Amino acid sequence: MKKNLILSIESSCDETSAAVIENGREVLSNIIASQISTHEKYGGVVPEVASRMHIEVINKVVMEALEEAKVTLKDIDAIGVTYGPGLVGALLVGLQYAKGLAFSTKKPLIGVNHIEGHISANYIEHKDLKPPFVSLVVSGGHTFIVHVKNYGEYEVIGETRDDAAGEAYDKVARALGLGYPGGPKIDKLSKEGNPDAIKFPKANFHEDTLDFSFSGVKSSVLNYLNKNKMQNIEVNKADVAASFQKAVVDVLIENALKACKKKDVNKIAIAGGVASNSALRFKLTEVAKKNGIEVLFPSPILCTDNAAMIGSAAYFNFISNKTSSLDLNAKPNLKL
Ligand code: KG4
Ligand code: ZN
Repeated sequence: MKKNLILSIESSCDETSAAVIENGREVLSNIIASQISTHEKYGGVVPEVASRMHIEVINKVVMEALEEAKVTLKDIDAIGVTYGPGLVGALLVGLQYAKGLAFSTKKPLIGVNHIEGHISANYIEHKDLKPPFVSLVVSGGHTFIVHVKNYGEYEVIGETRDDAAGEAYDKVARALGLGYPGGPKIDKLSKEGNPDAIKFPKANFHEDTLDFSFSGVKSSVLNYLNKNKMQNIEVNKADVAASFQKAVVDVLIENALKACKKKDVNKIAIAGGVASNSALRFKLTEVAKKNGIEVLFPSPILCTDNAAMIGSAAYFNFISNKTSSLDLNAKPNLKL
């Protein structure tokens, strides 16, 4: 079998990453330069700083990816790159670099939707995974339930109407003084707390919808913290973290299962940074099993932003002849 090698690039937020992927599922290299320690100081990603840092490291990251995969540009069949959604300045760095490479090497360019990349991380982790399945994409910028009908064929059947799940985690973590990114910190602290200690509202709509809303639970946590602060009452941070996490995770699970029933599928693939969450992994697996549904997760390194997932998505586009022209532009609000 011909080895299709994709060189992929991801720079939509605060990770500069390049990877070499074989046949869409084998990772020959996946180099990630994270800017987290820089943005930590500001409590979140500063877009202008992110763009500048991508520029500083992109060439080195791509060269390292080729070197680690023991290939040269000549061996590469196509170049995949994230062109949205994301921060426009950050996206442009990766995209311009990829376009330059595609032009100079005369290799096909494949623009990849970042969300499609997150979903595709599951193809790398689970070598036999084939559509159809339902995917729950939960990251710092997005919360979607997607019906993956076929490779590259998606129907968004639920989404957040306000904050993304990861965004709510980050904001609550900041209010608790835990720092950025908040998800892993709340996840860890929750293990010491009681999830039933405080009743935060669940993000349920009284309609037949798979949509989410996380701003209500976030505001409720912030109000709880403010009220106690004003009365000089010390809160139990672990209980707040665990109770907040329960409110978020329960509704993610509820809607993901409803989606499987609605689309009559028995497989859920979780994706995005929040897919690393231990409570989500544990509870969803347990509840889904009772409903005869299989739950798939990528390993943590494939959950957060990385170029390997972009390379996998690019491969499935490549074999369907879905290539992009060199005038491809960054689309910060690109839809799936
Ligand atoms: O997918 P990702 O790396 O970047 C985006 O595309 O947004 O996701 C980052 C998000 C952050 O909001 C971070 O707090 C959250 O994923 N996250 C977690 C966990 N690990 C990362 N949220 C909850 N629990 C975790 N263990
Ligand atoms: Zn992401």
